Amino acid sequence: MTGEPRGAARTAATPVRLGALTLANRVVAAPMERNYCGPDGVPTGHYEHQVSALARGGSALVYAEAAYVRADGRVRPRQLAIDDDGAIAGVRRLADAVHRGGALFGMQLVHGGRLARAEVSGFTSVAPSPVAATVIDGDLPLELDAADAADLVERFGAAARRSVRAGADVISIHAAHGYLISQFLSPRTNLRADRYGDPAVFLREVIAAVRAAVPGTTVGVRVSAYEGVPDGLGVDETVQILDRAGAGGLDFIDVSAGCYEAGQWITPTGELPAGLHAVAARGFADLGPPVGVAGRIADGATAEHVLRDEGADFITVGRALHADPSWTAKILRGEPPRPCIACNYCADMLRTGEPVGCTVNPEAHEALPAAPAPDGEQPDVLVVGAGPAGLEAACRSAALGRRTRIVDRSDHLGGTFALAAGLHEYPEYHRIVDWYAGRLDRLGVLVELGTEVAPGDLAGQDEDLVIMATGLPGLVPDVPGAGLPRVRELTAWLDGGLCAPLDSEYVVWGADRDGAAVADHLAARGVRVVLVGAGDEPAEDVGPRAKLLPLARLRADAGVEFLPNATIESIEPDAVHVRTFAGRRVISGTGPVLVSLGPDGSGAPIQAARAAAPGKTVTPVGAAAGHGGWTAIAVRHAAETVITARPTEPRRHDESQRKGNHP
Ligand SMILES: Cc1cc2nc3c(=O)[nH]c(=O)nc-3n(C[C@H](O)[C@H](O)[C@H](O)COP(=O)(O)O)c2cc1C
Ligand code: SF4
Repeated sequence: MTGEPRGAARTAATPVRLGALTLANRVVAAPMERNYCGPDGVPTGHYEHQVSALARGGSALVYAEAAYVRADGRVRPRQLAIDDDGAIAGVRRLADAVHRGGALFGMQLVHGGRLARAEVSGFTSVAPSPVAATVIDGDLPLELDAADAADLVERFGAAARRSVRAGADVISIHAAHGYLISQFLSPRTNLRADRYGDPAVFLREVIAAVRAAVPGTTVGVRVSAYEGVPDGLGVDETVQILDRAGAGGLDFIDVSAGCYEAGQWITPTGELPAGLHAVAARGFADLGPPVGVAGRIADGATAEHVLRDEGADFITVGRALHADPSWTAKILRGEPPRPCIACNYCADMLRTGEPVGCTVNPEAHEALPAAPAPDGEQPDVLVVGAGPAGLEAACRSAALGRRTRIVDRSDHLGGTFALAAGLHEYPEYHRIVDWYAGRLDRLGVLVELGTEVAPGDLAGQDEDLVIMATGLPGLVPDVPGAGLPRVRELTAWLDGGLCAPLDSEYVVWGADRDGAAVADHLAARGVRVVLVGAGDEPAEDVGPRAKLLPLARLRADAGVEFLPNATIESIEPDAVHVRTFAGRRVISGTGPVLVSLGPDGSGAPIQAARAAAPGKTVTPVGAAAGHGGWTAIAVRHAAETVITARPTEPRRHDESQRKGNHP
């Protein structure tokens, strides 16, 4: 796209020139808010640690996140500030950390416009026009008068100047995703009659102000190729506006997509194709500057395809680097990184205000404790249960140099997580299970599938330290008829139920994440589903971004009936009796009743295991220890526990007792 011959040496490993700078390779760590700042907008030590890891992990350019240029444009309580000279010192710590790691440092500048709320910023929000963002229950913004719009233009320039003083090598103007600049670009949100009614004017002025503030610095723009809503901007219109705004004179154009009303294009889930925005990004090539592409570029093959075949000049990688900060170095070496499964747990965590974690990376939100220095010989470790928590425990344990064995009574790795990977909402979930399988192999962990180790068997096992990653059984309430063959606990049903011929109708009792995902899966196969939920909506436990597509499908599908605020009172062979706020209801039919009401929270299996093996240290992890619900939490707990767990009385290893073949 930069005039280089198409396909000529355009691989992730080759350098690319952006303005006066040359990036050592074509992988850019995307700007990502992760609640890594304090409430004052100053980066924490963990922020430094993370950007340093990204730099050391091989990405040529590492961004911080969308930093707000004026206080009334702050969207989130822990967003990075660059609105005041007081912010420079904190940003400099990030720049230094990135530079020490060997990468260039980028700052992205934003104003939230109507997406900022008084509750967070302390100010009445401002926007091109008074159009509230109903999708986030946004405040009705004040219409910017021309003088205030001009002030904001200057604020972008001032923020760029501060960023460069703090050590930024690259400035990216955030004109994507529905924030203030995109509000000026879009006819949905810019209803003005003055000169700012021309969608190109505000951006043109911002570009000029930033250029003037930091002459010689590499400056580019991030833009949504399309808004992704029926009345929103498409690719051609966006290209034309950018052209008129003078984006052709910039040093790069970084192409993303979507807006808050169509968040599936901002952080696409695994249901959407890998590298999906690359085709749209081609439309920006004629503007002149090098073009970058973001969106579901999560493996080496997609990275190379987007660069070589789609003609992108660089790739901007977000979640894959959140999952593994060394992703870049690994794909360049041909090693498998810890894979992002595109679940959007991270995107939804932003709303919590807590440091943003990751389903597959237990270190994303907080560094793990350092392993204590070994005092004596390392214990041998038995991990019982090969769900994600067990897999993490086994890999961590082996990486610490402990002989490790993992057993599972089923014939596969990954537990119910692997079974859920068969649901159409989760097509990428298998990737992390596959990755663990490879890692177990490389670390020499002995894997015994189809092996039940019941509490009574523990005393006879060789290992001193037993990690119980057995999860918890699902709860089936003791209502009349609960014992009928048509009633199945949902995760037990998943084991085989997805491959077996489906019935024509199902009742799913429990509209939590799992119940809703199964209902969605069944409905997509033409099965009639009645979803009985305790709350007002299906999947209330899931964040809005992760459930955007399945929830829309469940609502639209005529074959799905959702009964809110409801519970099942009794089940008969040909009827299910439901109580709702509106009264009682009988669902006729003989199809399966799948129960998804969460785990049976009893710690009885662990107590039994401890009682049966008094000479051993038996330590539960993940759901078995009450840290379940979300895989991210279970995996983190497993990692932390294994690092710190030790047998009460370490004993010397006796080779003659050893079974199995691992080193
Ligand atoms: C937790 C989270 C925070 C994000 N914050 C920003 C941001 O500050 N600025 C921005 O332009 N995009 C942001 N994004 C979007 C990413 O930069 C990226 O474009 C998007 O995740 C798609 O790329 P990926 O599939 O590689 O993750 C964020 C995404 C996530 C998941
Ligand atoms: S939380 Fe999910 S989507 Fe986000 S980086 Fe981790 S695996 Fe990827």
